[in-house]
Amino acid sequence: MIISAPTDYRNAAKKKLPPFLFHYIDGGSYSERTLARNVEDLADIALKQRVLNNMSQLSLDTEIFGEKFALPIALSPVGLTGMYARRGEVLSAKAAENKGIPFTMSTVSVCPIEEVAPEISRPMWFQLYVLKDRGFMRNVLERAKAAGVTTLVFTVDMPVPGARYRDMHSGMSGSFAASRRILQAMRHPHWAFDVGVFGKPHDLGNVSAYRGEPTNLQDYIGWLGDNFDPSISWKDLEWIRDFWDGPMVIKGILDVDDAKDAVKFGADGIVVSNHGGRQLDGVLSSAKALPAIADAVKNDLKIFVDSGIRSGLDVVRMLALGADCAMLGRSYIYALAAQGQQGVENLLDLYEKEIRVAMTLTGAKCINDINRNSLISSL
Ligand code: FNR
Ligand code: LAC
Repeated sequence: MIISAPTDYRNAAKKKLPPFLFHYIDGGSYSERTLARNVEDLADIALKQRVLNNMSQLSLDTEIFGEKFALPIALSPVGLTGMYARRGEVLSAKAAENKGIPFTMSTVSVCPIEEVAPEISRPMWFQLYVLKDRGFMRNVLERAKAAGVTTLVFTVDMPVPGARYRDMHSGMSGSFAASRRILQAMRHPHWAFDVGVFGKPHDLGNVSAYRGEPTNLQDYIGWLGDNFDPSISWKDLEWIRDFWDGPMVIKGILDVDDAKDAVKFGADGIVVSNHGGRQLDGVLSSAKALPAIADAVKNDLKIFVDSGIRSGLDVVRMLALGADCAMLGRSYIYALAAQGQQGVENLLDLYEKEIRVAMTLTGAKCINDINRNSLISSL
């Protein structure tokens, strides 16, 4: 399969993965309207072409929380990454380090914090959910601190899980799921050997380390379902704010008033996100939600954004709409599933090339030059 564009990795991943995993990654909630709008609304944002400005010297690096980023990109937390490629969290973290950007480990990663952190010299970021089991939250935060994690990404848009009907059809959940998954794996022998056999243990690494016993995919669905906490409010986050010394970023903000509350709470950053259209279907795309949020809080904290970013041009669009940094979810996971660490590095090279062209042709010499003037004003 020839990869020439960032979006080519989706088909390559589809060929490689058993359907239950591909659709778990690819799918959204309910009728997937927000999933589609994330991509469509962003792609519709019109960039303003500017010419003859001597654009021979461009600088793509940026600094956030005292960390240097070679590109205005970070990798979003994605659960079960070690099921898409052998020890996938390690591969993603190494790819991110090689390209000079942060990797965010999910709470529900396959590899535990202690397996990934020693493999890289760049500090890792860690994502935590609000969970009923506060003992687990405290335990994992202590371990993250001990492993040198700098930034805590706290996900708040999952007090309840959105229904993923695709997962029920594909064998991720639903009737006869376990036997359907085995049959699918047999039809994808490359994945079955590389990840299924040699990529073990298929634990929820962080949860097993806490429980002191192995966990598996069934535990993933069960444990997550039982553990989301709908009672959560800003007050419950205060002990984490006090406990965590490093920057704290609230992920899953889509509303201006919530963004202002994040400022009041003392967050260092927010991720404008609808969880990639995987939670409340029908909500605004990130591209539509971002400008008003940026207008309200841009001077008070760092603004990250994800959901729908599929190219370097999309990164430039998000920065122009007011973000400081874009985050990649599915886009990098497809590349990881298709070609492992090399795939993620190639993908980031493609992003870099696209960002360079977009900066050259919008007249932006550095990342801070990308702003609303880079866009046609009728948004
Ligand atoms: C996610 N996302 C997610 N977010 C989070 O905070 N913790 C997690 O464990 C996961 N797990 C997860 C698994 C999979 C398969 C996907 C696709 C997504 C959401 C993720 O961080 C991000 O918000 C979205 O992926 C962004 O949307 P795009 O870029 O994928 O469209
Ligand atoms: C998801 C969870 C794991 O989106 O965040 O599937």
